Amino acid sequence: MTDHSDNEAEAAGGCPVMHGGDGGLTRLYGPQAAIDPQGIYGRLRKEHGAVAPVLLEGDVRAWLVLGYRESRRVLDNPLQFSRDSRIWRDWAEGGVEETSPLIQMLGWRPDCVSQDGEPHRRLRRAVTDNLDTLAGRGIRRHVTHFANKQIDAFAGKGSADLVIEYAEYLPMLVLTRLFGLPAAEGRSLAVSCAQVLKGGPDALEHNDRIMEILGELAERKRVEPGPDFTTGLLAHTAGLDEDEIVSHLRLVLITAHTTTSNLLARVLELVLTDASRLAGLVSGQRSISEVVEEVMWNTPPLAVLPGRFATADLELGGTQVKEGDLLVLGLAAGNLDPEIRPDSGVSVHGNQSHLAFSGGPHECPGQNIGQAIIGTAVDVLLHRLPGLRLSVPADELTSTASTWEARLDALPVEFAAQ
Ligand code: HEM
Repeated sequence: MTDHSDNEAEAAGGCPVMHGGDGGLTRLYGPQAAIDPQGIYGRLRKEHGAVAPVLLEGDVRAWLVLGYRESRRVLDNPLQFSRDSRIWRDWAEGGVEETSPLIQMLGWRPDCVSQDGEPHRRLRRAVTDNLDTLAGRGIRRHVTHFANKQIDAFAGKGSADLVIEYAEYLPMLVLTRLFGLPAAEGRSLAVSCAQVLKGGPDALEHNDRIMEILGELAERKRVEPGPDFTTGLLAHTAGLDEDEIVSHLRLVLITAHTTTSNLLARVLELVLTDASRLAGLVSGQRSISEVVEEVMWNTPPLAVLPGRFATADLELGGTQVKEGDLLVLGLAAGNLDPEIRPDSGVSVHGNQSHLAFSGGPHECPGQNIGQAIIGTAVDVLLHRLPGLRLSVPADELTSTASTWEARLDALPVEFAAQ
């Protein structure tokens, strides 16, 4: 492992050292990162060990945590590694533009993911109580309804792209129902959520559009309450104010949709590129949860988790991190860390200790809902479309990555037209 304690990081006042390609820090965005993020993580691990200096969009500096154990340490120690970006030194010193797309992912908001301690617990309780209520009312019937509607739209053709025509849209349709939004808002919300994660110059505008729709929803639900997540948040005993309500609607909508849609596409990819797995699922001899588990380990939907901020000068994986430094957690890299998985071909069946849902106080509270959506969506698809198979060779499937996630571009299939 590389020890940076006496390198240029100190000379640069705690900022990561200049290192890697082009005489500068490695960028976690741009053309190379878009096609081969795993290659970049592997090279950074060789050069730096468990914690590597990188550049995010706008050439903002961060530490990328590549080690499994180091990511666990960060997640489990909010007193040392805070989620509260108000202590982010580069931002406080004006080193990050107000219009930077990074602000959508890292900027402070009055939501539970931006805070620690008691403020976090108060807000998280409002979210989890309401997610529990929704789960108790049944998610699967909404998924079955929207999955069938989507399949109806392409069943007669005998072919489809399951990314564009199924996975990219289905979780958002379910969320519109859970939130009390018209399903007609689903398409544009799905596009806007994807753009916020992708970054780039349009991210801000898409975030504004999401906030506007959710602001109007909250106003409407104040006068027309219903059996939905929005009404539940408004009525919760934690007494969320107006900004807190809209910020939590935004948090859940973006997090739930982008991760679940990515996961659904990856699960379908794995099922359709392995004939025995597909046959086992159709016949009921295998369960979808083992496929989901494998995807969670090998291609987690959130590949890089934004972010944690060092509360003091400290050491992590042999690297000296300074107070106020930004750390982003390589969940995909950590899951493949050779220290814990010397042979990535060995089965992970029954082992749920992957990093895909993070860990510690902010661990994903929506994982059961996400998995219920995936399980039902795959089940409906396999039983509605007999003879379902890939229509291109598996090695022609491609994906494109942003800093935070790698998404499958397309999943072309054919089946007996109905
Ligand atoms: C199934 C795919 C999903 C994955 C892989 C996933 C992943 C994650 C991760 C990695 C975090 C941690 C953030 C952090 O530590 O900073 C998180 C937090 C969160 N997730 Fe999920 N998520 C998924 C589905 C969902 C769903 C379906 C919902 C809601 C219906 C949801 C709601 C949330 C919320 C509210 C938080 C913030 C929790 C907190 O800060 O205390 N997620 N998710």
